[in-house]
Amino acid sequence: MQQPSILFVCLGNICRSPLAEAAFRQAAQEAGLNVMVDSAGTGGWHKGHAPDPRACAQALEQGIDISAYRARQVSREDFTRFSHIFALDRNNLDDLQKLRPAGATAHLGLLLDLVPGQEGQSVADPYYGGPEDFAQTWDEVSEAAQALVARLQAER
Ligand code: 4NP
Repeated sequence: MQQPSILFVCLGNICRSPLAEAAFRQAAQEAGLNVMVDSAGTGGWHKGHAPDPRACAQALEQGIDISAYRARQVSREDFTRFSHIFALDRNNLDDLQKLRPAGATAHLGLLLDLVPGQEGQSVADPYYGGPEDFAQTWDEVSEAAQALVARLQAER
């Protein structure tokens, strides 16, 4: 199989998808999986910005420094550059389906569809919440990250 390449997409690329990227990078590394990973936002308001300080703090609690990540907006080219694109919520998935160009090769799906029992669910936006919401985001994205690693290993 060709090396998998995974893109996680939320709205701003400063809260949820950077945490999904971090969780998946860690899980893939622990599993010895060689994979390209990135994240992006459907919106461009935070282009070039570091992740939200609350997301950075949540990742640091897990021993991961994401302060050097920089937000970017998803592009049509991403649909051929990546093998898999995962939307963090259903609105993100709708937006990605609209953006998806003819000739797209990436598998496009909802992140929590990877987690048995959570199919169809969205990772809630913690932007207007508190630290406990970021902790819940972490729990959800790390469970999905583990499930994705297991799936990619099974396909290897
Ligand atoms: P994210 O959270 O999509 O998880 O990065 C958000 C960050 C910023 C905004 C919305 C959601 N915003 O509207 O600026």
